[in-house]
Amino acid sequence: MEKKSLKLLSWSKHDIISVSVVYVVNIILLAMLFLGIIRINYGADGFKNYFANPNTFTNFLMLLVLFVVVTFIYFYFEDRNFLRGAANSEMLFLILEIAVVVCYACGKYVNIYLRPLSLAALLVLFLTNTRTAVFLNFIFCIILFLFDSFSGANVAFSDYSAVLFFAMGISSGAIAIYFLKDVYSRLRLLLLSFVISLPAAVCVALPMVDLGSGDSLLISLVCSALSGPLAALLFTALLPVFEALFKKASFFKYAELTDHKSKFIRKLISQAPGTFNHAIVVSNIAEACATAIEEDALLARTCAYYHDIGKLRRPEFFKENQADGTNPHDDLTPELSANIIKAHATDGYQLVMKNRLPQIIADVCAQHHGTLPILYFYGKAQKFTDGEVPISQYCYPGPKPQTKIAAIIMIADGCEAAARALSDRSRENVYKVVKKIVGDRMAWGQFDECEITLKELNIIINTVVNSLTGVYHSRIEYPKISFEGAEDVKDEQKEKN
Ligand SMILES: [Fe+2]
Ligand SMILES: [Fe+2]
Repeated sequence: MEKKSLKLLSWSKHDIISVSVVYVVNIILLAMLFLGIIRINYGADGFKNYFANPNTFTNFLMLLVLFVVVTFIYFYFEDRNFLRGAANSEMLFLILEIAVVVCYACGKYVNIYLRPLSLAALLVLFLTNTRTAVFLNFIFCIILFLFDSFSGANVAFSDYSAVLFFAMGISSGAIAIYFLKDVYSRLRLLLLSFVISLPAAVCVALPMVDLGSGDSLLISLVCSALSGPLAALLFTALLPVFEALFKKASFFKYAELTDHKSKFIRKLISQAPGTFNHAIVVSNIAEACATAIEEDALLARTCAYYHDIGKLRRPEFFKENQADGTNPHDDLTPELSANIIKAHATDGYQLVMKNRLPQIIADVCAQHHGTLPILYFYGKAQKFTDGEVPISQYCYPGPKPQTKIAAIIMIADGCEAAARALSDRSRENVYKVVKKIVGDRMAWGQFDECEITLKELNIIINTVVNSLTGVYHSRIEYPKISFEGAEDVKDEQKEKN
């Protein structure tokens, strides 16, 4: 689910340089790709002849620079925080370049109608959001149009065919974005991929259109019908590569990460079962809260599964894993205990980054306690010390939640732990506790750096109360059943036997 960031993070000198370098390098790469295609298509002599009129290449280059600059301007005004990460721009350029190469190869070596025109749109859709996918689809079609028109490399282009392919690309991409944005199963992906082929198939079937592919109508029709499935196939193969390279996540990645057979979930189950059960309840609460305020529910669920992954380093130091009653903190100073507890946030961040899991999960690990103090050990330290104990020593290092998802996890985490310890789990009491937890976090300024509103916090409070009263419902007092007479029945049966 796409959310446009309203808050603009400041740009460092490093950000400006790295983004500029990415844009310049990719203009050079695209130009070299164009030259490579001319060279492959026309051979050494044809390559020289192509430059007999140097204006052709100069015009291509100027238009290429123009549309790359348009891309920069779009992100500058639409999503500056996305543009700020040089890796994001590099990812988009890499998708464009791969899609251009694949389309060129299909057109040259197989059939021009087989070109997977929606590949770039699909990859960008699943790695970013709908808005970016629509824009990138347009830029991809323009770039492919420039390659087609200026190189003439694809089979026997007539004057208008490049324009038709541009229209085909725009419509295939738009259909792919609309139909596949919520696709959750591979079968649906396969079936819907044929719908993406429609614009190409319609163009082939139109009697007045002659794109001059040289193949029979039937072959062209079959190839156009397969262009969508080919795009879906390449998308399925490339998506995990992009996810790993750029630490991004899609629905498929989240489903993989929350599977109980995945590496870290298996580790939690075996090494920190208490933390695992806590994570499950937090994930249910977080998912309900995200749905209630129209955030990405699946992302909230995945982040909740992993928020305490840092506890894997020393699971026995956390209450929920002390089933046998041994508490290693009994032998430690309050300061050392607090340091161990605090470390799980940074340990989680490092563990996630080291394993190349999505950046957003790592951020939630670091931010889910914000800069809150660990009051239990702070209170303990005050008892043991005569002088003042600086509270900063007992605070988590932060940062405070930077996103609504991180804020949701912070609230769900605190409320689950508090509700577990409650003896009276009536709705009124749970509501009081949840309200206090959210109020305390607000008083500590924990939501100052994310865009969550008071209205959303109220929705979250009610959702958490509903979820918690569902999970930890008050135990029903069953009426005592008298077993009087039961013994007589047993005796009767014995006698019969
Ligand atoms: Fe935690
Ligand atoms: Fe937690």
